[in-house]
Amino acid sequence: MALIAPSLLSANFLKLEEDCTMLNRSEADWFHLDVMDGIFVPNISFGIPVIAAIRKATSKVCDVHLMIQDPGKYAEAFKAAGADVLTVHLEACTHLHRNIQQIKSLGMLAGVAVNPHTPVSLLADILPDLDLVCIMSVNPGFGGQKFIPHTLTKIKELRRMINEKGLQAKIEIDGGVTLENAQSIIEAGADVLVAGNTVFGAADPADTIAKLKRI
Ligand code: DX5
Ligand code: ZN
Repeated sequence: MALIAPSLLSANFLKLEEDCTMLNRSEADWFHLDVMDGIFVPNISFGIPVIAAIRKATSKVCDVHLMIQDPGKYAEAFKAAGADVLTVHLEACTHLHRNIQQIKSLGMLAGVAVNPHTPVSLLADILPDLDLVCIMSVNPGFGGQKFIPHTLTKIKELRRMINEKGLQAKIEIDGGVTLENAQSIIEAGADVLVAGNTVFGAADPADTIAKLKRI
C-alpha cells in the first residue's frame, strides 16, 4: 500500500486550518509542502512561517519539498519550522553529499528530487545515504500539470537500483498523479504518491485520498 502525500500547494490558503483538519481526519499519511523561490523554478509559493503554522495544525509527517537554490542555507530554519523530511533538488546542489549530511545531522529524513530530464542513474553514488528520492513527473513549479509518461521507466529503473543494493530509500512521485494513473505508478515501484489537484480539486478530498490509498 502506497503512502499518500497530499500537496497543500492546491489547498485553500484562506482556509488552511480547515484543509489541515480534513487531512488529519483523512487517510493521508504525509503533508507535502512545496517551497518555491522564483529562481530555481518560475514560481513562488510559501515558506518558513507558513510551514511553522501548518506544523502546529498536524502531527502527521511534514514532507518539505524545496524547489530553491542554495537549500543548505535554510536547512536549519526548516528543521526549526517542523520539517520531518527535507528534500532538495539534485539540480540545485553542487555539493549534494554535503547537503544530505547536513539534513541528516539536523535530525530530518533526507530526500533528493530529480527533474524530468535528470536520469536516475546520477543518483547511484548518493543513493545509500538517502531516505527518499522524489521523481518529478512534471516540470516543477506548478500544480495541476499532466503526468509525463516517461517517468514510469525512471521509477522502474530506480526501483531496480534500490532493490539490487538492498537499500532503504523510498520512491516518491510528484506531479500529475490521478486516480487513473496511480495504479501504474505503484506497479512501477513507487512508495509515496504526492497529489495536489487530484485531492484538492475533488468534490470530496478525503474520499479521494481513501480511493488513492486503496489502489
Ligand atoms: C510541483 C509540486 C507538486 C505539485 C503537485 O512543482 O512539486 O508537489 O503540488 O501538484 P499536482 O498533483 O496537482 O500535479
Ligand atoms: Zn512537490
